[in-house]
Amino acid sequence: MTNDVNWQNLRNQFPTLDKINYLNTCSLGLLSNQSKDALLTYIDTWTTQGASAWYSDWLEKTNSLKAEFAKLINASADEIAIMPSVSQAIAVISSCIDLGTDDEVVTSELDFPTIAHNFKARELKGQGKVKIVKSESMEYVDTDKFISQISEKTKLVATSRVYFLSGYINDYEKILKVARSNKALFFLDDYQATGQLPINVKDKDIDIMVSGGLKWLLGGSGIVYMYVKKELINQLEPSVTGWFSHKRQFEFDPHTIEFSDTAARFETGTPSISAVYPAEQGLKFINDTGVENIRHRTLHLTSLLINSLIELGFSLKVPEDLNNHASITMIECSNPPFVVEELKKAGIIVDSRPGCVRISPFFYNNESEIDHCVNVLSNLKNSDSSLF
Ligand SMILES: Cc1ncc(COP(=O)(O)O)c(C=O)c1O
Repeated sequence: MTNDVNWQNLRNQFPTLDKINYLNTCSLGLLSNQSKDALLTYIDTWTTQGASAWYSDWLEKTNSLKAEFAKLINASADEIAIMPSVSQAIAVISSCIDLGTDDEVVTSELDFPTIAHNFKARELKGQGKVKIVKSESMEYVDTDKFISQISEKTKLVATSRVYFLSGYINDYEKILKVARSNKALFFLDDYQATGQLPINVKDKDIDIMVSGGLKWLLGGSGIVYMYVKKELINQLEPSVTGWFSHKRQFEFDPHTIEFSDTAARFETGTPSISAVYPAEQGLKFINDTGVENIRHRTLHLTSLLINSLIELGFSLKVPEDLNNHASITMIECSNPPFVVEELKKAGIIVDSRPGCVRISPFFYNNESEIDHCVNVLSNLKNSDSSLF
């Protein structure tokens, strides 16, 4: 069920849209007035209080940030760790897992490479092997093929809900089930999904999930959220760690390492407080709008974009059923950087990946922005048929 939302009112909170046609949320979500005000509040607390702001405001802010993310995914705040990046999150989780020479980690060619990199580095030290499941199409990974690589040797399975290179929605639930039956941990990279597609981590019984503020959570850079399910927290002991992981961090005792019973045990050091402020407002915006509503809206805009482009003869990497597609659309192109530059000259911001122009509208965009982008692309195609 979706509610009536006044999309124009929400759009008015993003002043960037007064100046440019912004269709690149999968790279960076826009700054809302609320996140900007929060950033200014942070500056104010720093200016007026200096270090005492830690105790009056900042530590508490990290807790309210965790609570806001927990609300979005139906978890509890104690199950959320704040990290600086997905790379750091996977490094900490990796450090919890002993890998002998025969042990394996399974991921895919379409998952964000930082995951494979971590385990490749361990492989170089004789610690386990990484199986990277291939994608024939570079659009999606065949689920049965993925599953066939999981065995009793597998210690961790890591994949994404939405592939950053194509916008395909991965059938991760089947993969999770097979990981579970082989007693492997399941790590979901949800960076390109949380905020644009609903998720309930308890319903899906996910072990570990990461997502970040940069894109669909409208929070800017510097904050990644890692959910670790309650039952797992005490079973995982990181060796990549620090004083924020300690149960009694403010005793400053170098002789013991006693991990926190909450997901804080996966945090290492001081979080970026300047990033916490806008990140919290970004999450509030998403929670207040409702992810079901957002999905409804972005599916409408994405369908408009895709149907218009197909009608004009563009080649797209999209599934037949758009219910399996998120708001990231790839248009095949012989010279993507040129097209991105030409669109920029027309006031339209998109991005490119090898062989493709990437367009990713969000709820704050509207139909006329989609039409504008389609028209400029169509003119480029008419002026040089070798481009598309
Ligand atoms: C699916 C996915 N995972 C991870 C990342 C980024 O990882 P990190 O926070 O380590 O830079 C991105 C960013 O572009 C992404 O799209």
